[in-house]
Amino acid sequence: CERQDGRPFRQRLLVVANRLPVSAVRRGEDSWSLEISAGGLVTALLGVKEFEARWIGWAGVNVPDEIGQKALTKALAEKRCIPVFLDEEIVHQYYNGYCNNILWPLFHYLGLPQEDLLATTRSFQSQFAAYKKANQMFADVVNMHYEEGDVVWCHDYHLMYLPECLKKHNTKMKVGWFLHTPFPSSEIHRTLPSRSELLRSVLAADLVGFHTYDYARHFVSACTRILGFEGTPEGVEDQGRLTRVAAFPIGIDSERFIRALELPQVQEHIKDLKERFSGRKVMLGVDRLDMIKGIPQKILAFEKFLEENPYWRDKVVLLQIAVPTRTDVPEYQKLTSQVHEIVGRINGRFGSLTAVPIHHLDRSLDFHALCALYAVTDVALVTSLRDGMNLVSYEFVACQDVKKGVLILSEFTGAAQSLGAGAILVNPWNITEVAASISQALNMSAEEREKRYQHNFHHVTSHTAQEWAETFVSELNDTVVEAKLRTSK
Ligand code: ADP
Ligand code: G6P
Repeated sequence: CERQDGRPFRQRLLVVANRLPVSAVRRGEDSWSLEISAGGLVTALLGVKEFEARWIGWAGVNVPDEIGQKALTKALAEKRCIPVFLDEEIVHQYYNGYCNNILWPLFHYLGLPQEDLLATTRSFQSQFAAYKKANQMFADVVNMHYEEGDVVWCHDYHLMYLPECLKKHNTKMKVGWFLHTPFPSSEIHRTLPSRSELLRSVLAADLVGFHTYDYARHFVSACTRILGFEGTPEGVEDQGRLTRVAAFPIGIDSERFIRALELPQVQEHIKDLKERFSGRKVMLGVDRLDMIKGIPQKILAFEKFLEENPYWRDKVVLLQIAVPTRTDVPEYQKLTSQVHEIVGRINGRFGSLTAVPIHHLDRSLDFHALCALYAVTDVALVTSLRDGMNLVSYEFVACQDVKKGVLILSEFTGAAQSLGAGAILVNPWNITEVAASISQALNMSAEEREKRYQHNFHHVTSHTAQEWAETFVSELNDTVVEAKLRTSK
């Protein structure tokens, strides 16, 4: 097996993630089209080129019939993807419920759902049961495709129960697990009813990775405080069994962005955008439409800025590109209406017959359009309330060779630790502070912009997705495989 450049792959890698890098859309009984999925996990893993990687995951659709499943399996095989078929009920309980209504908000410090405590308590149990069942389904597919010598890399909060399922079946399997979200303080994690079971299962892996040292530290504290295990500089130990825990900050495939800027179609987009917004400074937000992204806070800060700076009102535009996500979860539906309502109000307040201050698009942009947009941006606004890393900030920096625009970045992102020195760091809850930082960014001298950009560009191009994956897998290869199962107490 060879890579595109003719060199042999280093090793076979089974990447297991809830979401495959492509999502399937049914076009007929046995025909499917595949579209790139949005999200940081997919973006980062697409940059991994050294390994002969096979992806195992959910294609984002319910396929109840055998003809459809066979056709989709074949279409995905061409992309080296292997589907896990989840039925509607499992998706509802596991993906919408336990993953995205419980774990996701909790890991981002938004707490457990509280609206109807009785209903939540009942559904919590059935959702956790579905979560375990779904994880076992992923494990079954891994077991079917596993060959001796493979490395199995499990990803994210959807699959915390997977390491245990895999090791129960085969103690010799090399299993790594990486979390793409923050791991919260142990005081937050301990509110989760299934707190111990999840920690024990993750500890069945040989290597456990996080984006930042803080997240890794929180995880180790949770294991010591909740399970009573020992935290060591290497990881977590109990009864002589060590699970290695460490930080592996993710990056992007920066070359892919830099190269794309040279393409004629991207240059064409850039030209169009420049004409469209000539005479105005462009501010940009690119996010999944998720409550952790602080989109209402960002827009309210922009409103405050316009309120306090009449001079800028017809000289600046905010483009907010928000791709809808997890649309069956009620909290996400509420957020969509809330954002639309705020945008409408501000455009009504500050717009004119010919121009509005905010262009809000509920959609995904293709890669070339996105690169062009990053390239014409003067100020990028990332106001996440919490964010594991935030790769949008990295992508923006990679495309700023000409503009040397300013990055306004929430201090609650993992990226604040790497791009903090080049960005303007803000607390997104402090609308006044964010409004002031917009003013600072728009008025910043060319020399200061250049200095900040150089700092960030150096980081983004020297800490890539490829390097991240290689470091993780090579550490995983160095771990000693042993039975690490911790039986439930
Ligand atoms: P998250 O993983 O929470 O979605 P990240 O910022 O780490 O956040 O990664 C988001 C990824 O999804 C980036 O690669 C970004 O380019 C992509 N993305 C987000 N919103 C859009 C959008 N509206 N159109 C196209 N791509 C998007
Ligand atoms: C974040 C998560 C990923 C997830 C992505 C998109 O990046 O860490 O695991 O794939 O969001 O969310 P979705 O629910 O559409 O997969």
